[in-house]
Amino acid sequence: MKVRFSQDFGARAKADLLIAPYWEGPREAFKAGPFGSKAETLLASGDFQGKLGETAFLYPEGMPESRLLLLGLGKKGECDAERLRRSFAAAVKAANKKKAKTVHLLFPEAKEIRGVFEGIFLSDYAFLKLKGETRKDADVCVSSLTVFGLDSKHGKEVERLEQIVSAVHAVRDLVNGNADDVTPESLVRDAKAMNGKKLKIKILDRKQLEKEGMGLLLAVGQGARYEPSLILAEYNGAPRSKERILLVGKGVTYDTGGLCLKPLDNMLTMKSDMAGAATVLWTVKTAADLGLKVNVTALAPVAENAIGSKSYKLGDVIRSISGKTVEVLNTDAEGRLILADAIAYGVKHLEPTAIVDIGTLTGAIVIALGEEIGGVFSTSDKIAKDLETASAETGESVWRLPLYDYKESLSSDIADIANVGGRDAGSMKCALFLQEFTGGVPWAHIDMAGPAFVSKPKHYNPTKATGWGLRLLLEFLELQAGR
Ligand code: BES
Ligand code: ZN
Ligand code: ZN
Repeated sequence: MKVRFSQDFGARAKADLLIAPYWEGPREAFKAGPFGSKAETLLASGDFQGKLGETAFLYPEGMPESRLLLLGLGKKGECDAERLRRSFAAAVKAANKKKAKTVHLLFPEAKEIRGVFEGIFLSDYAFLKLKGETRKDADVCVSSLTVFGLDSKHGKEVERLEQIVSAVHAVRDLVNGNADDVTPESLVRDAKAMNGKKLKIKILDRKQLEKEGMGLLLAVGQGARYEPSLILAEYNGAPRSKERILLVGKGVTYDTGGLCLKPLDNMLTMKSDMAGAATVLWTVKTAADLGLKVNVTALAPVAENAIGSKSYKLGDVIRSISGKTVEVLNTDAEGRLILADAIAYGVKHLEPTAIVDIGTLTGAIVIALGEEIGGVFSTSDKIAKDLETASAETGESVWRLPLYDYKESLSSDIADIANVGGRDAGSMKCALFLQEFTGGVPWAHIDMAGPAFVSKPKHYNPTKATGWGLRLLLEFLELQAGR
């Protein structure tokens, strides 16, 4: 989207739409401003009250725009970034319905630039690749936006927000994509294409995984047509610092459940099970593009959890790179297996000072927190607090849950640990399992099974794949950089 700034509201060019934001308030506070009698009539009628996300189209004469959109921002005193994201999402949705390509925006008197532009950029997304005949109709994104009443000195900030959101869109594309298009091998190719001066990509293919002894990742991937890999993306933005953050993302490109086959309803959404991997790769790429002053490495174990004669078996005991052996009591608890190997690889080779892993790990977290909140488990109050601070900035909600001493439930009589331990506290047991592979490095685990791929598009997420977590992790990295 091309964004321009102008101070000359009187000298507007032709456009498809003008967005005029209004606060909710007493009737007498409403003044139509320069929009003429039709707007006065609408406001006087009470049919438009400025409630958050409320929209109304008008067609005043003598305007260079084909139509006017009144946009409700809610009560001025309650305004925050998230409310602005949601109201501007409603504006973009309305604009897209009218196929408006050139849009003028009268900037509201709100200090929150981030909320407005994130709302616009995040909403202006569609996944068109798999549209057939209806593709033309769906092609409705805004192409140019002229902002009136905001100093052009904010241009850099807006550009940066757009850059970050374009990475969110890249994650959404990967999560929305077919599981036979977005495969372990395609993710390896995508990562290789990210290799550059600032970002160093390294791939461990099957042979190298064998050499490293990454039995868990190999086992999960062994039933599939596509070979598993470990993708590493390293960025050194603070060469003089000894700190290194590892971001580890679950990359199961399709989760059938393996031999513990999932029922229809549960399998339906499992092309989204690589959201964690997509998130960490694009987070680190964006951190490098923006030149954040942190050292960070993304680790993305990628594999497909397929069912077939070569699938790994229930009851088998498998050795991890850490030396720990794991008894597989459920082949559907595969995410923690590949994350465990990747985390242990990082601990062994990369000298991390902090680890954050993220992925779509358990259905139980969706039962606990619903679709809009990610669950956080952490051995470090500092990391957990920074994630909460970041979350408040980006609107990606998280909730910290305890790492209570339920480790006993994961005990095995023939291995060091079992991969599951009963249905109760299922998400916590997953976290407790992962903790065993962190080697005592300060660590947090984010279970985003809820928000990564939602059942219904909402607010500024126009598709089921939300790209949730990328802005959160990037903000977290910025906090570590001490912006
Ligand atoms: N990928 C699933 C978790 C999931 C569920 C993600 C719903 C998104 C939405 C994961 O691999 C899984 O199958 N977990 C099991 C764990 C169980 C076997 C302990 C689950 O949640 O049922
Ligand atoms: Zn599973
Ligand atoms: Zn899974």
